[in-house]
Amino acid sequence: MGSRADRQVPEVPVRELDAMLARMSWDEKVAQLQIAYRPRFEDAIALVRSGIGAVFWPGDLVRTRELQRIAREETPHGIPLLIGLDVIHGQYTIFPTPLAEACSFDPDVAMIDARESAQEAASGGVNWTFSPMVDISTDPRWGRVVEGFGEDPYLTSVFAAAKVRAYQSEDLSAPGTLLACAKHYIAYGAGEGGRDYDATDVSEYRLRNTYLPPFQASVDAGVASVMASFNTVAGRPMHANRRLLTDVLKHQLGFAGVVVGDADGVVQLVAHGVSHNNADAVALAISAGLDIEMGGNVIGADGHAVVSPQSVPEERVNDAVRRILRLKLARGLFSETASEHAVEVRHPTERTRELARGVAHRCAVLLSNDGTLPISPSISSVLLVGPYATSTDHLGAWTQNFAAQSRSIDECLREALPNTSVTTMTGGAFFREDLEARAAAVAAAASNDVVIVAVGEPSSLSGEASSRSEPALTGDQAALIRELVATGVPVAVILVAERPLIIADWVDLPGAVLQTGHLGTEAGSAIVDLVLGIANPGGRLAMSIPRSAGQIPIRYNHENTGRPPSVRGQLEHEDVDVALVGPGDTDDYFTSKYLDLDLGPKFEFGHGLSYTTFEVSAPVVSTPSLTMSTLASDGLSVSVTVTNSGARSGDEVVQLYIRDLVASIAQPVRRLRGFRRVSLEPGETTSVDFALSAIDLGYWSDGVEAELVLEPGTYELHVGGSVSSTRVALVELAL
Ligand code: BGC
Repeated sequence: MGSRADRQVPEVPVRELDAMLARMSWDEKVAQLQIAYRPRFEDAIALVRSGIGAVFWPGDLVRTRELQRIAREETPHGIPLLIGLDVIHGQYTIFPTPLAEACSFDPDVAMIDARESAQEAASGGVNWTFSPMVDISTDPRWGRVVEGFGEDPYLTSVFAAAKVRAYQSEDLSAPGTLLACAKHYIAYGAGEGGRDYDATDVSEYRLRNTYLPPFQASVDAGVASVMASFNTVAGRPMHANRRLLTDVLKHQLGFAGVVVGDADGVVQLVAHGVSHNNADAVALAISAGLDIEMGGNVIGADGHAVVSPQSVPEERVNDAVRRILRLKLARGLFSETASEHAVEVRHPTERTRELARGVAHRCAVLLSNDGTLPISPSISSVLLVGPYATSTDHLGAWTQNFAAQSRSIDECLREALPNTSVTTMTGGAFFREDLEARAAAVAAAASNDVVIVAVGEPSSLSGEASSRSEPALTGDQAALIRELVATGVPVAVILVAERPLIIADWVDLPGAVLQTGHLGTEAGSAIVDLVLGIANPGGRLAMSIPRSAGQIPIRYNHENTGRPPSVRGQLEHEDVDVALVGPGDTDDYFTSKYLDLDLGPKFEFGHGLSYTTFEVSAPVVSTPSLTMSTLASDGLSVSVTVTNSGARSGDEVVQLYIRDLVASIAQPVRRLRGFRRVSLEPGETTSVDFALSAIDLGYWSDGVEAELVLEPGTYELHVGGSVSSTRVALVELAL
């Protein structure tokens, strides 16, 4: 088994583990292989007495201590508990949702969130978080895109590793750390039609090059656990997928930690139609490589294991128990005393609020701007309109009900503009048409210097089981924007949504559109800072925004077809006689596109503006030609200089994309392999260097064995502030 994860999950002497195992009965071992899913506290007590290995967090430190005391003092072997909880982007202090964090293109943002969340949650006794979610998705219909880091495997890998390292810290047993969990393994974001939990059928090539890299990055960062996904891959449900769980994850990727099932994912093997009953399902899953069942279905009502050594090999059960005990030992649970969590954090502090506000600034993406933003703090009158004007729904999917809410944009704007006349009106509603409110807002526009329209997608519409066939603004929000723009008063839109919404029908109308995402506890103040130019937006899209739902799935890193389009399609055209249009005459018509859409997404991955401007020089490579062995020994470096050519300080995100012009398998037209967010004062210049190696130029083969393929030929290295504005350097790679 690979040992990269062992760097962070220290080896526990085999003798110690074996001695413990030798003392345990079959039922005692099997009881360790489950986590009870949100039991009532009384039920949790009974489960812990019966020897269960893990429970969901019971809600506070006192209860957690009691459960741990029972496990340590009242069970035969005194094995402490894993206490799990979905601490996804905060516990009390909420940081931006993961997709919004990815838009920062700054892994420090994810690290700050994970470090602070770990401190808060661990202070209450949580020791295991089901985060980060590292599912790649190119389908904004899927509500869970907001829980991940977007459409790109490289960006997701960098963020996954940052979060794992920050949750777990250098020393897993240090106070304030959480065991992390990379989820959902695997291809969960590829569900058919963007429907949650739905089937997938991904090729070996796509699996290796798109879905596995973020898990490999998490394993390399030492992630303690990996969660199996609800979906099937080519007909095999992931909870029973021996090849992907054992051969690929544990053997090829070298994962030494624990594979946990998703909520009732094991017993759902019955609904999938691959098991007759729950006992069969448990046997199938554990045999396939699952170590912990989430739900508590492994011990039956009679107090005995539902599986026997006849249905699951004993060595497999021993391996699973070893993995679990190893984590408990490494996390220091056997030596942990109750006093270690003396002070339970229950609220954000000034410090965490300040961190959350700073992080939130970095996640917003300025989609368009004709100078309407930022709004001058000395402006005399502002009309603030829209259902998000007074809403405090800024936390986004996956937060607990005790998390600290944000103040509204309205409250924060009034506080920031004490000398401005601020008029606030709803102008409409999230879920219905309110003609009266809209008419009143439109009538009020003319007597104001600027209109800020705060619209978006309420948190309840994204996250798990929240797929949408038409992910657009709900209610009459789009109509409100259109009518306000028609008044001629400058309009700036604040779009509180990070899931790509279909906005092409209105987005070109207002003077400026700032997409903020659900930014967490300090969203209100951070948004106002951005609107007033106290902070300068520097985020970039981590998912492309399609022109219409019919364009989904969409991704910047697609391969070329044999007939790439150069011009958009047309619905009306002269009759084309197919027989007369032969090979070579395919330029305009027989190309891969929609007849009724412009080419490409409305806004592409990596897009984002600033209140200042930047110039990125042409890339300079360390050598224009090299051999594979030189690449292996010396690497390849690419450098650019970046200058802030505008009048404000701000951030540029320098992005490096690779294109392998001719390969044995068709390669993406662009593939992100480096990015750097730099802050520059007006007139300031800096240089940005990227170091590339074989893994950046190569790709994973489509064979069942993991093989990195590096082929000779010409590589284009594109560097710039967005996919469409890159400049290119060529590199010849020889054998
Ligand atoms: C979700 C997981 C989550 C688990 C535990 C499931 O429904 O798919 O992401 O970690 O619940 O709450």
